[in-house]
Amino acid sequence: MTTMRAVAMTEIGGPEVLQSIDAPMPVRANAEVLVKVLAAGVNPIDAKTRSGRGVSRAIRQYPTILGYDLCGEVVESPYQAHPLQPGRRVYGMTMVPRLDGTYAEYAVVPEAFLTPAPTTLSPVEAAAVPLAALTAWGMVVDVARAHDGQRMLIHAGAGGVGHFAVQLAAYFGARVTATASQRNVGWLHELGASRVIDYTAERFEDAIDEVDVVIDLIGNVHDDTGSRSLRVLRPGGLLVNAPTGSWSTMDEEASAAGVRATGYRVAPSGSTLAVIARLIDSGDLRVHVDRTFPLAEAADAHRLLEGGHVRGKLVLTVAE
Ligand SMILES: NC(=O)c1ccc[n+]([C@@H]2O[C@H](COP(=O)([O-])OP(=O)(O)OC[C@H]3O[C@@H](n4cnc5c(N)ncnc54)[C@H](OP(=O)(O)O)[C@@H]3O)[C@@H](O)[C@H]2O)c1
Repeated sequence: MTTMRAVAMTEIGGPEVLQSIDAPMPVRANAEVLVKVLAAGVNPIDAKTRSGRGVSRAIRQYPTILGYDLCGEVVESPYQAHPLQPGRRVYGMTMVPRLDGTYAEYAVVPEAFLTPAPTTLSPVEAAAVPLAALTAWGMVVDVARAHDGQRMLIHAGAGGVGHFAVQLAAYFGARVTATASQRNVGWLHELGASRVIDYTAERFEDAIDEVDVVIDLIGNVHDDTGSRSLRVLRPGGLLVNAPTGSWSTMDEEASAAGVRATGYRVAPSGSTLAVIARLIDSGDLRVHVDRTFPLAEAADAHRLLEGGHVRGKLVLTVAE
């Protein structure tokens, strides 16, 4: 086989620039694994990149295959006794545009970015996990060091990253307040939030007491959420911001307010995904897939994602 089916962006633009193409079969080298993709998660970075933001500056040529998340089956391992043998079900996150993305029938992924998929999840559910759960882990566990009694405010608790962040923070003992619209309030309580603020009905800064940490998944994209968050932090408290391009004056505003603020950037990690798989298989961490789309309908998935109100994740189905 010399070609495969993929969906690629043909240029920068709206969802319509995502086109089905016949792409060359990727060729494995070094310690990379060739994976047959069963399902591919969709993330805001995909839509941002497609529209000329995100990592679009680093794209060298079009068409470019987007997609960071996959669940699939190993087709070729780096060597005979490699732990990820052909036929093994794996999940992981790759690095677009340095590597081709996962909106495709096959992907070549460095072994360190992959690990066996959680055994209790379907391929669709497993493909929803990597980038969002790694981001939640990085922000909540690695940077904010979630611990017993820590008071944590998590914005956009119902989104892809947020629903993992709420669960991980609660798992490690933090007292979680999340923001979401009314329809997600009950669900976020189920996931472990002790308080949920409907951001459409009240200003969070009027509704809560001081917190130690803000996990900011909104920034100043909407209603100065980032700037307003600085007011609810205790002196010396920490804000961790993920939409890094949204708030250029974050550092100055934080130091004027006597608090700390940092951006955050997720990186692929098979070893962290192995820990996350254990939490999923023990029932301590759940993934929510809002909707699936066939690979060829990736443009519709982008349209829905860009509406900004997906609960949990969207996933593209690639193979049976
Ligand atoms: N730097 C990094 O490494 C990194 C990694 C991952 C993600 N990110 C960025 O982080 C952000 C979140 O990513 P994501 O995948 O979680 O996004 P997402 O799944 O698209 O987030 C959707 C959620 O946002 C909620 N929401 C929308 N407006 C809100 C508001 N004003 N206040 C509170 N909640 C609101 C919605 O809840 P309702 O329907 O209830 O409104 C919805 O459930 C994106 O900007 C993404 O690009 C950065």
